[in-house]
Amino acid sequence: MESKRVATLTLDDGRSIELPILSGTLGPDVIDIHNLSKLGLFTYDPAFFVTASCSSKIAFIDGDAGLLYYRGYPIEQLAKQSDFLEVSYLLLNGELPDAAQKTAFEAKVKAHTMVHDQMAKFFNGFRRDAHPMAVMVGVVGALSAFYHDSLDINNPEHREISAMRLIAKVPTIAAMAHKYHTGFPFMYPKNKLSYAENLMQMMFAIPAEDYVPNPVLARALERILILHADHEQNASTSTVRLAGSSGANPFACIASGIAALWGPAHGGANEAALNMLEEIGDISRVQEYVQGVKDKKYRLMGFGHRVYKNMDPRAAVMRETCHEVLKELGLENDKLFELAMELERVALSDSYFIEHKLYPNVDFYSGIVLRALGIPVNMFTVIFAVARTIGWISQWNEMMVDHDHKIGRPRQLYVGATRRDYVPMGKR
Ligand code: CMC
Repeated sequence: MESKRVATLTLDDGRSIELPILSGTLGPDVIDIHNLSKLGLFTYDPAFFVTASCSSKIAFIDGDAGLLYYRGYPIEQLAKQSDFLEVSYLLLNGELPDAAQKTAFEAKVKAHTMVHDQMAKFFNGFRRDAHPMAVMVGVVGALSAFYHDSLDINNPEHREISAMRLIAKVPTIAAMAHKYHTGFPFMYPKNKLSYAENLMQMMFAIPAEDYVPNPVLARALERILILHADHEQNASTSTVRLAGSSGANPFACIASGIAALWGPAHGGANEAALNMLEEIGDISRVQEYVQGVKDKKYRLMGFGHRVYKNMDPRAAVMRETCHEVLKELGLENDKLFELAMELERVALSDSYFIEHKLYPNVDFYSGIVLRALGIPVNMFTVIFAVARTIGWISQWNEMMVDHDHKIGRPRQLYVGATRRDYVPMGKR
C-alpha cells in the first residue's frame, strides 16, 4: 500500500516524524506507525480500540451506519438469498462460485464430514456434565493429533484439506458433544442433507427413528450460520491469527478461537441473554430490570457492541427470522419472546440506551431462535463456533499467504517495580 499523505508527529522534545496515512477501499484511513520504532517509541492502545492489527479483504463493518459486508456483499442479501456453503466458498476464495465450483466445493466438504472413529472414544474421557464448549476446545484441538497428513502449513494443498476438514468436521464434533452430554448415541453425518439440516439431524435424530428436518427451522439455522460466519478482527479471530502467526497448525489455531469465543462478552452472549430473560421471568419486571442496568448493577446482555453504534444489521435479519420460526411452531405468544419484545421496546426508548448508543445485537434474537429450534442453551455458543469456523479459517488462510506476516508480538507499557535486589527469606 503506497501512500502520499502523511501525519506528522512532533514530540515535546522537538523530535518529529512523518507517518504515512493509508487508505483502504472502505472505512477510515489508518496511520502506519511502523516508523515510530526509529524514535524508540511504541503506541498504547489497550483492547485495540483504534488499532488495525492487519489488512484484510474478507469482511467489512461500518459500525455507525450498521453495515456488514462479506467480500463486499451485504449480509442481508447473503442471509436471504445464499446458503452457508456458498457463503463459505465466498469467504474462503473471495468470489461467489459458479454452479460447477459450488458443486465441487460441496462435494469436497461432504467428503470430510465423518471424524476418525477413534475420536468417539476420546469423548469418554469427559464428564457427561462438562460444558459442550469445554469439549469443543479439547476435541477440535485434538484434530491435529488425528490428521497429520494436512499439517504442513506452507503447503497450499494441506491448507485447503485442513480448511475442508474443519468446515466439515466441526458440526459433527459439535453434535457429538451434545449427544454425549445427553447420553444418546452419536449420529453419523448424512451427506444428502444441507449443512444446516445435517447439523440438526446429528443433534436431534436417534437411530431408532427416521428424521425429517423441518425446512423452515433448517432455513433459520442456515441463517444463524451465515450471520455468524465472519465479523472481521473480533476477539476470537484475532486469537486465531495470533496463534497462527507463530506457525501453529490450523486445528490448534481454531481451538484457540473457540476458547476465546466462549466468554459472555463475545460468543457466550446469546446464552447469557437467554439466561437473563429467564431471570427476569415476567414482563412486569422489565422496568425494574432496566433500572438495575442503568444503576450499573449488571449489563443488558444481547445489547451493545464494540463496533456497532447503530442497529446491528445481523440483528434485523435475526429478528425477522425469529418471527418466522415462532409462527411456524405456533409459539407467537411465547412468554419469553413477549418479554424480549417488551425489553427491546423499553430499552430502545430509554435515554440511557440512546445516549450510550446501545442497540440489540444479533445475540439478543439468536438465543430465542435457537431455543425455539430445540437447541439447549449450553449449545448456543457451540453453534456460533460451528458458524465462525469458516471465518477463522479464511482469516488464517489470508494471513498465511500474506508475505508481510510475522509472529504477532504486542509491546507493553511497563508499570511494575524498577530494578531491585533479591532479599533472602530471613531478611523479609
Ligand atoms: N448494558 C448496559 N450498559 C452497557 C452495555 C450493556 N449491554 N454495553 C455497554 N454498556 C455501557 C457501559 O456500562 C459503559 O457505560 P459508561 O460509559 O457510562 O461507563 C459504555 O456503555 C461503554 O461500555 P464498554 O464496555 O466500554 O463498551 P465496549 O465497546 O467495550 O463493549 C460489549 C462492547 C459487547 C462488550 C458490551 O456492549 C457488552 O458487554 N454487551 C453485553 C454482552 C453482549 O451482548 N455481547 C455480544 C456482542 S455481539 C457478538 C459478537 O460480535 O461477539
